[in-house]
Amino acid sequence: MKIIIKKDYKEMNKETAEIVKKEIQKKPNLVFGLASGSTPEDCYRELCRMHKEEGLDFSQVVVFSLDEYLGLPFNDPNSYYHFYSQNLLTCINIQFKNVHFPDGLVKNPTEFSAEYEEKIKEAGGIDLQLLGIGTDGHIGFNEPGTPLDTRTHLAKLTDQTIEDNARFFGKKENVPKFVITMGPQTIFEAKKIVLLASGEHKAEAIAKALEGPITPQITASVIQKHPNAIAILDEAAASRLKKHGRNSIKQTG
Ligand code: F6R
Repeated sequence: MKIIIKKDYKEMNKETAEIVKKEIQKKPNLVFGLASGSTPEDCYRELCRMHKEEGLDFSQVVVFSLDEYLGLPFNDPNSYYHFYSQNLLTCINIQFKNVHFPDGLVKNPTEFSAEYEEKIKEAGGIDLQLLGIGTDGHIGFNEPGTPLDTRTHLAKLTDQTIEDNARFFGKKENVPKFVITMGPQTIFEAKKIVLLASGEHKAEAIAKALEGPITPQITASVIQKHPNAIAILDEAAASRLKKHGRNSIKQTG
């Protein structure tokens, strides 16, 4: 696993957008797994800029969202569908038929999850999966204790995640309690993984995920054994890493 440390949030996301751009240039029909949340927002802004100013072409790109809140319709301002529409999808030339999301209003989440897995398979698998990390070490919404071989499923958010995400919903009580999320196994099968983290509040989760044991208690730890994973961190998020010496860390920016 490669670790890249950048000076700050902006530089971290710039580096990430460059990686996405290279992957699209290599494979114009890239199957791109999207993560939501505050961390990759600037990356999406940069991809929009690249499309507008440099002609980066998304016309054949296929996207799959990592997750979606259960109970929120697509047009709810807090749905991840809405987030991606605002931050990425409406400013690039992606085709609507190539955009895939868990449906927050689905009646049978288990059935839907199996269909979602099937869609990913039909698309040839995820080529590049972007990930943020929760303060409890989750990727997607695979909370502590989720078996690492779990695929797309209905998951219950922990109190900590509900508190962390309350900032988007005004208050804690408004945060949905359930999500449909790709599982650690689904994520692990992506051909390339880019995990992002920014800020001191992510430093402990990052140290555990990248240097601790591979465990369902920190589902992000699964990326340690992935053959093609990169963690792109800002200095604050990397501040508690101990084991990774200079050789494995490319310090730039
Ligand atoms: C979002 C997702 C989550 C977030 C994580 C960090 O699609 O799957 O794992 O990436 O909760 O969220 P932020 O970036 O808001 O700190």
